[in-house]
Amino acid sequence: MSRNLTKTPAFKLELFLEHPKNERLHQTAAFKPQCRIVFLIMKNRFNSKIMKKIIFLLGTAREGRKSEKVFNFVLDIAKQRSDIEIQLVDIRDYPQTMTQGLSKPLTEKWRKMLKKTHGIVIVSPEYNHGYPGELKMFLDNAYEEYEGKPVAICGVSSGSVGGARMAEQLKLVLSAFQTIIINAAVYFANVNGLFDTSGAIQNRAYWEKQVNGMLDELIKYT
Ligand SMILES: Cc1cc2nc3c(=O)[nH]c(=O)nc-3n(C[C@H](O)[C@H](O)[C@H](O)COP(=O)(O)O)c2cc1C
Repeated sequence: MSRNLTKTPAFKLELFLEHPKNERLHQTAAFKPQCRIVFLIMKNRFNSKIMKKIIFLLGTAREGRKSEKVFNFVLDIAKQRSDIEIQLVDIRDYPQTMTQGLSKPLTEKWRKMLKKTHGIVIVSPEYNHGYPGELKMFLDNAYEEYEGKPVAICGVSSGSVGGARMAEQLKLVLSAFQTIIINAAVYFANVNGLFDTSGAIQNRAYWEKQVNGMLDELIKYT
């Protein structure tokens, strides 16, 4: 789908206008304001059709983690959307040691993925009101790659606040990376009773609306 879009006049116009050599065009009187309006309309139309690469990061490696159920539910919702291309990152697939951190190839893999992504969704539990240590260690393997990228948070907890305290702490870290923090976080409280024995989430329609609302906000800033 995106390959066909690259042949559209809107895409060609965008490439032309965004080329550094054409920077002066933006300053000319002729380009403003009518051309600019047409350009913005075309750009919006083009952007609304493009699939956005979004990293979905599961931030705990704990054995028996319940956050995985939430993660799978969030992925399920994302899969139903036509505007998201999922990039799955399970922190377990990025083993780290306290002194060496991530291996060089895995660090490179993470940085490359970040450079190409349009946004990030982090699903993380709350451990003693904070985020898992392995999540912070993992995030620290990149820096400038995060700049300007929107990041949304899904908190998970067995308690009643759904990881809200973890999310607040994580936001401080994300602000150090100069990300765009999406306000519409989703908090999965009381996770032990949230999924039935078949693995289905209770009150699915409610959670689906919450997650889609968060993803809509995220996409808006991509
Ligand atoms: C080290 C540790 C600290 C925890 N601290 C909190 C907490 O501060 N608040 C809370 O509601 N639940 C806390 N929990 C319970 C988690 O919310 C619970 O394990 C939940 O299932 C989400 O984490 P999980 O994905 O590791 O299962 C803690 C769990 C662990 C292992």
